[in-house]
Amino acid sequence: MFRIVHYPHPTLSYESKTIVRVDAQLKRYVDEMFELMYEHRGVGLAANQVDLPLRLFVLNESGQEGVGEERVFINPTVGQPKASDEAEEGCLSLPGVYAPVRRPKQIRIQAYDIRGNEIDETVDGFLARVIQHEFDHLNGVMFIDRISSDLRLDVEEKIDEVVVQFNEERREGSVAADEEIVVARQKLEKRYC
Ligand code: NI
Repeated sequence: MFRIVHYPHPTLSYESKTIVRVDAQLKRYVDEMFELMYEHRGVGLAANQVDLPLRLFVLNESGQEGVGEERVFINPTVGQPKASDEAEEGCLSLPGVYAPVRRPKQIRIQAYDIRGNEIDETVDGFLARVIQHEFDHLNGVMFIDRISSDLRLDVEEKIDEVVVQFNEERREGSVAADEEIVVARQKLEKRYC
């Protein structure tokens, strides 16, 4: 079973790799990602947030199992940004940290779903924001990288608390050592990329 990794876990800043193969195991990983997302009351989760450095994210705008639509985006590209909009964001890899983030209000997303069907949609509002937040994760970018230095100062203390928690997890051994993370990553990339 996966767990959500917290900042500054190295996989969060790693640029995830393109997926060329979807198998039953990957589908099970996706199911586990949805479970974890609901458990932690999130609306979106990128694969690298469970230490799976592959270009894939899941979302359900409702944040509730059995409500709304579960969506999987594989190898997404985001383009055609229009207008801009600011709203508060948080992240399951940065518990307790919230800040307003300015992003394009409308975007076009192209991707594949878990069955290999093409997705090509122009979306706006909350959905566009969630997609951009998750898409950023795949490029190793977190929402705190997109806020002004003033705002960053406001949340620095909360970020430090997450770092302290991460270091504790490392000491306890619930977070793998850097070398082990690299070995696991190479195995996954060999299988899926
Ligand atoms: Ni996030």
